[in-house]
Amino acid sequence: MKKNKKTSDFLHIGTKLLKWYDTHARDLPFRNTKDPYKIWICEIVFQQTRIAQGLNHYNNFIKRFPDVKTLAESQEDEVLLYWKGLGYYSRAINIHKAAQQIINDYNGVFPSEYDEILKLKGVGKYTAAAVSSICFNGKMPAVDGNFYRVLSRVFADDFDVSGSRAFTYFSELAHLIMPENVGDFNQAMMDLGSEICKPRNPICGDCPINDDCLAFSLHKISEFPVKTKKVKATDLELKYYFVHRNGQFLIQQRKDDFIWKKLFEFPLEISGELVTFIRSSKTVNHKLTHKNLSIEIFNVEVDSEEVWKNFIAENDYIITSVESSHEKSFPKPLENYIRNYETAYSIL
Ligand code: ADE
Repeated sequence: MKKNKKTSDFLHIGTKLLKWYDTHARDLPFRNTKDPYKIWICEIVFQQTRIAQGLNHYNNFIKRFPDVKTLAESQEDEVLLYWKGLGYYSRAINIHKAAQQIINDYNGVFPSEYDEILKLKGVGKYTAAAVSSICFNGKMPAVDGNFYRVLSRVFADDFDVSGSRAFTYFSELAHLIMPENVGDFNQAMMDLGSEICKPRNPICGDCPINDDCLAFSLHKISEFPVKTKKVKATDLELKYYFVHRNGQFLIQQRKDDFIWKKLFEFPLEISGELVTFIRSSKTVNHKLTHKNLSIEIFNVEVDSEEVWKNFIAENDYIITSVESSHEKSFPKPLENYIRNYETAYSIL
């Protein structure tokens, strides 16, 4: 599409969106605050998690860590615990570090300028734009997948949304329709993208800007956005040993940041002495964004106290129990395994 038109040619689109947002904005707990701390947390939580899925987590997180200071002074393990179930644990680690950055570098006052917000750990252009526009009247569009989808449809624009230039390109398109009130405009685009202009089965009949949507008038909604590159997930096999005795089992905290950084896991290997105690194994498949995991978990029930003690003495494993494992964060498939064991153990 040609971008040499005057901005005002398309500005009415943004104005219509604002009007729609006035009466259709979703009633979300972070919509009645301009506290940058809360908006920042909600943007991180809901970046990759649907509102319905993450709302309880968000509320619990804010209840436990109501402000920057409380978060900065908390232990990382507890922050991870409150993140349990949301996935992408590096986001929780970054949030914790950023809170300390705000205390140390900004005297505990949340920065108000886009460029400063962008310096916070784990904060990208989308989050900086969202927080600065919603809380401080900043003027940057919060460009994410919703923007790509809505704008490529409105302008029937086949620019590849999977390419590295997509962000800049769609930011420029967003400026064409962006009204003065950028905070509401950004949130209107988010609501439109998730409720109406959905990836599949968009509800074009209810769309406040369907009159302005070129793809809609051409009956070509399903052709946009155009995405050429698909990141292919690679296969990965893992083996774990669930080494247990009388309701206790052994774990360690992951150090590498390949996957599941800082979450807890079962031992990845066992000694020859333990091999005889393998009872069974179970393979579970689990998908991460870029990995298809096949995880074989061996059930090692150690009947000998001596072998159990030797193994613990020779390794750095943490002994935990089914009860206290609730206090730790595990990757989803291991969490499920423990909960199955817990059920079985409690009825033994
Ligand atoms: N998803 C992420 N942030 C959001 C917000 N502020 N409003 C609606 N949906 C969102």
